[in-house]
Amino acid sequence: MKQKMNILALTSFLLTGLFIQQVTAQDGATLYKTCVACHTIGGGKTVGPDLKGITKRRTNEWLVQFIQSSGKLIKSGDPDAVAVFKQFNNIPMPDNALTVDQINKILAHIDGGEGGAAIDPKQVALQHKVDSMLKTNSPLDILAGKELFNGDRRFENGGASCTSCHNATYNNSGKGGILAKDLTKAYSRLGGFAGIKGIIASAPFPSMLATYKNHPVTEIENAQIQLFLKNTDEQNPVQPVVEKAWFFYAAMVVGLVILLTITGLWFRRKRLSVNHAILKRQEKYSK
Ligand code: HEC
Ligand code: HEC
Repeated sequence: MKQKMNILALTSFLLTGLFIQQVTAQDGATLYKTCVACHTIGGGKTVGPDLKGITKRRTNEWLVQFIQSSGKLIKSGDPDAVAVFKQFNNIPMPDNALTVDQINKILAHIDGGEGGAAIDPKQVALQHKVDSMLKTNSPLDILAGKELFNGDRRFENGGASCTSCHNATYNNSGKGGILAKDLTKAYSRLGGFAGIKGIIASAPFPSMLATYKNHPVTEIENAQIQLFLKNTDEQNPVQPVVEKAWFFYAAMVVGLVILLTITGLWFRRKRLSVNHAILKRQEKYSK
């Protein structure tokens, strides 16, 4: 009897353990959502490295420090952190206000597999379509991407145009916003299609995320913008400084106008007063 009780206790203990572990793993998946914009687990590198097997490549202590603040670790001169930072074109990874416990959950999720989503045939067909679009590089898709980016074509789910915050120069023209980074060279800066795709799908930047959270950009629209940005990148060997130059010239013209107005007024007043004096004198003589 006592033995039975023990077995029962042991079984329920193990089951609870399993249950807790499952909850933990799920938490890890939720927490990991902030990382998908820049990382894959086994899908190759995008903005950041592929994280598959990361717990075998790095110590737990290193991972916790890096994920909390990669900048701090890089600044401290840690050779691995510096090397991976250089390898990824000096793109800094944002800091994360995560506890050690939360990070361990994320790492458990990364260890646990490839994201675990069941294969959905619709999704596969869509992916196939997107892949072939990206390969074809059709002028129609580039145009669609340009129009979506510039707000000349509405997003299916009604999100704001990218130009409300960004510029991208194409055919020597760009009318975009200057609130956020210029995206003319984003394609090469972020390492190709996947980098741009991830950021559009789940932006790691609060203001951009807020814009599209309830108005997601569809996969097709996303691909069209990727194509557009690939072409802005290829057209412009270096980041154009249109926006800044424009601002600079405008400031110069405004400054010049102000200067001319002030000196003009001054001379006019001076001339007026001289003329006035002569006039007065003449008036006196003519009397
Ligand atoms: C905005 C993009 C971005 C986001 C979001 C991001 N990372 Fe990163 N991550 C990078 C980049 C870029 C690197 C390469 C190192 C560097 O440039 O600092 C990197 C490197 C890493 C590394 C080191 C990999 C190695 O090979 O040593 C780990 C671990 C990591 N990230 C985990 C995470 C986790 C976990 C999250 C989510 C909490 C996350 N990252 C969110 C961009 C990002
Ligand atoms: C509400 C403003 C806003 C809108 C709208 C917006 N973004 Fe952003 N985006 C940001 C901010 C802020 C950043 C962070 C970088 C910065 O500060 O410039 C960013 C960063 C990016 C980056 C990474 C740039 C880099 O090189 O590091 C890409 C790519 C990007 N956005 C693409 C887009 C695309 C494509 C659209 C349209 C579908 C879009 N964004 C719409 C605000 C916005």
